[in-house]
Amino acid sequence: MKTLNQETNEETFSELLPVIPTMDVVVFPHMIVPLLVLDERIINGINQSLNGSKKVLLLASKKKNDNSQGAIGTKDLYQIGTVSSIMRLIKIPEGGVKILVQGICKARVKEIVTDENILHVSVEPIEQEATDAENLLPHIQSIKEIAEKISSSNHSFSPDFHIILSKMNDPTKIADFILSHLNLSVEEAQDLLETQNQGEFLEGILAQLNKEVEIAETQERIRSRARDSMNKAQKEFYLREQLKAIKQELGEDDAEDIDKMRKKIEELNLAPEVLEEVNRQLNRLEKTAPDSVEATVTRNYIETMLALPWNTETKDNLDLSHALTILNEDHYGLKDVKERILDFISIRNLKEDGYAPILCFAGPPGIGKTSLGKSIARALGREHFRISLGGVKDESEIRGHRRTYVGSMPGRIIQGLRKVGSKNPIIIIDELDKIGADFRGDPSAAMLEVLDPQQNKSFYDNYLGVPFDLSKAIFIATANDLGAISEPLRDRMEVINLSGYTAPEKLNIAKNHLVKRALTDTGLGEKGIEFNDDVITGLIEGYTREAGVRNLERVIRKLCSKAARVLVEKQESLIFMPETLEKHLGPKQILDYDNALINQIGITNGLAWTPFGGEMLKVEAILMPGKGKVILTGQLGDVMKESATAALSYAKAHATKFGVDSKRFSDFDLHIHIPAGAVPKDGPSGGITLLSSILSALTDRPINAKFAMTGEINLRGKIMPIGGVKEKILAAKRNHIETVILPHQNKNDLVDQEDITKGIKVLWVENAEEVLEQVLLPQEA
Ligand SMILES: Nc1ncnc2c1ncn2[C@@H]1O[C@H](COP(=O)(O)OP(=O)(O)OP(=O)(O)O)[C@@H](O)[C@H]1O
Ligand SMILES: [Mg+2]
Repeated sequence: MKTLNQETNEETFSELLPVIPTMDVVVFPHMIVPLLVLDERIINGINQSLNGSKKVLLLASKKKNDNSQGAIGTKDLYQIGTVSSIMRLIKIPEGGVKILVQGICKARVKEIVTDENILHVSVEPIEQEATDAENLLPHIQSIKEIAEKISSSNHSFSPDFHIILSKMNDPTKIADFILSHLNLSVEEAQDLLETQNQGEFLEGILAQLNKEVEIAETQERIRSRARDSMNKAQKEFYLREQLKAIKQELGEDDAEDIDKMRKKIEELNLAPEVLEEVNRQLNRLEKTAPDSVEATVTRNYIETMLALPWNTETKDNLDLSHALTILNEDHYGLKDVKERILDFISIRNLKEDGYAPILCFAGPPGIGKTSLGKSIARALGREHFRISLGGVKDESEIRGHRRTYVGSMPGRIIQGLRKVGSKNPIIIIDELDKIGADFRGDPSAAMLEVLDPQQNKSFYDNYLGVPFDLSKAIFIATANDLGAISEPLRDRMEVINLSGYTAPEKLNIAKNHLVKRALTDTGLGEKGIEFNDDVITGLIEGYTREAGVRNLERVIRKLCSKAARVLVEKQESLIFMPETLEKHLGPKQILDYDNALINQIGITNGLAWTPFGGEMLKVEAILMPGKGKVILTGQLGDVMKESATAALSYAKAHATKFGVDSKRFSDFDLHIHIPAGAVPKDGPSGGITLLSSILSALTDRPINAKFAMTGEINLRGKIMPIGGVKEKILAAKRNHIETVILPHQNKNDLVDQEDITKGIKVLWVENAEEVLEQVLLPQEA
């Protein structure tokens, strides 16, 4: 049997073949292709061929099928083409024919034979260089692999492309099959057509397939990238929409939020500087994703800014009698302070923005300093808040943190203002004397600014980043120990010293205020219990030993809760008697004074001032065999040690006058001790007390325990003034002392203080001898 090729070889190459130029396509052997032919000359050639061998030569045109370029000449055709046979012809009514051709073999144009009517060529065969089937195997293998890849990635190939291919083994057929699927450019196809070596031919096909894979992969990459970015954007959009819906449900719509904020800003009528900052942050908030950390920080900031009382003030109640009523309602006594407040209100009546003082209430604990601040606010009808500086060491507590991290907050002043919502509240700066300082800065420096009327007009809080006007606020500071407040700070304030209460005052406070409050707070109201004066005095004497009334208030509350219990359990009202107090409150905490007031050798009642009020302490001196040494114990400070030495020198100098044998100084040691050794003591005011004890010990004459004393002495025995007179007298009274001995020069301290001196004798003295005369009793037999 003849192969198609052999058959062609014999007959074809002897005759002239009509040429059919092909546009945009190169026909390979075995390929079946439909062609449209319009050119008269070519149709003539086809007709002639159909009458004979039906063979034609298909030559690809180098020119593009472009109407503008006119007819195609022979020079435009490639010289190698495919001998093909015409399988069918259909005439088209408009002129021209449609033919179906099948490629047979490759051939090169030998000579062009043209006449008017027909384009003829004579051809010669192109020898295929046959290659061993074995050598082609790797090519085939690669082609199959790539085909598989193509099928999965390139959608212009059908999925079964590689399945069909995988079953084929004939290199020629494989090539044909692939060629019919490839979409080659004319140049590429022509190149392949002209390849004579079968291996190279397959390589060419392989290269084309590779190109396809690459194109497909690139396309896929681009497509998937587009899809990815699309997906992300879509996802975000979708989620945001959902979030919006949820927020709307919850009434937390963001855009709405921002609109609300805008509106609020307009209403607030902010100063330009503040307005600018808030708007800047608001714009920023709008641009940040609502659920980001940054947005939270910014939103908090804006909310704080909008919540601050930039222009909100309360109106003062300037009615003097109203104010006095309220002040008296809340506190008993405290005349000086109440007067001062009324003065202030009077000024306000005359001048609305008159001078607002910065008051500082100084005194022992529990005397109503803090509660007075609140009461003043109530009297004036102002808001108030309290910041306690006890133990505050960090400046940012006052000035706030910079807005750089999530937890940053404004300082306590701004926080307080936000809470009360008015720019003219009473700000109670509590425990100003207990402010600290460490590496985080010195808060008292910030307080200097707060408490300076010149500077607090534009108080700068780090968190706000813009100044806030504090000048409308009234500041009230409290302190136990004025000495612990730095000089510049103390200088800015008007100090009002409050002393502790006498027992009758305490009784009144308890009756008129503490008991009532305790009854209301425990819900006992009117029905509960009755405290008579004896009971209250019993409490004051037996259970509280203090300058103020805080402990007194506590024990009263304790009794009220006992009464409440009895009322609930047994439906009975409890009646307290002084004798039954121990049953409810446990044993008395304070010993009977009578025991403490026994005359003893070497023991004198001294009076001292402490931040907690006055204190009575016993100064002890004792002689023991020795060599004239002096021992001082009881945590005495340097000043106190020096007073002891001075007192001893005075005693030595005047020994004969008091009948002291000089041997006593050389044969004995003197030990001076002040009990409560855990409490540090210092100051010069113990001079006269030390001297009394020393001389008592030296002379063996007891000291009259009904006296208590205070006063500094110099070497000549002159008594010099001391501080804290009122507190000391109160302490003496608490200890049931009959007479206090005080330096003459302190007399002015007690002008108009009958309350304090009532019930106690005061002995004003100028020199040591006067004291010793009074307190040294005769030697006991
Ligand atoms: N004169 C008074 N009249 C009525 N109640 C008083 C009086 N003095 C103090 N109190 C009451 O005593 C309690 C303690 O007072 P407050 O807390 O103001 O003391 P303080 O002087 O601030 O003490 P500290 O120095 O320890 O802070 C409060 O309940 C207060 O109302
Ligand atoms: Mg207080």
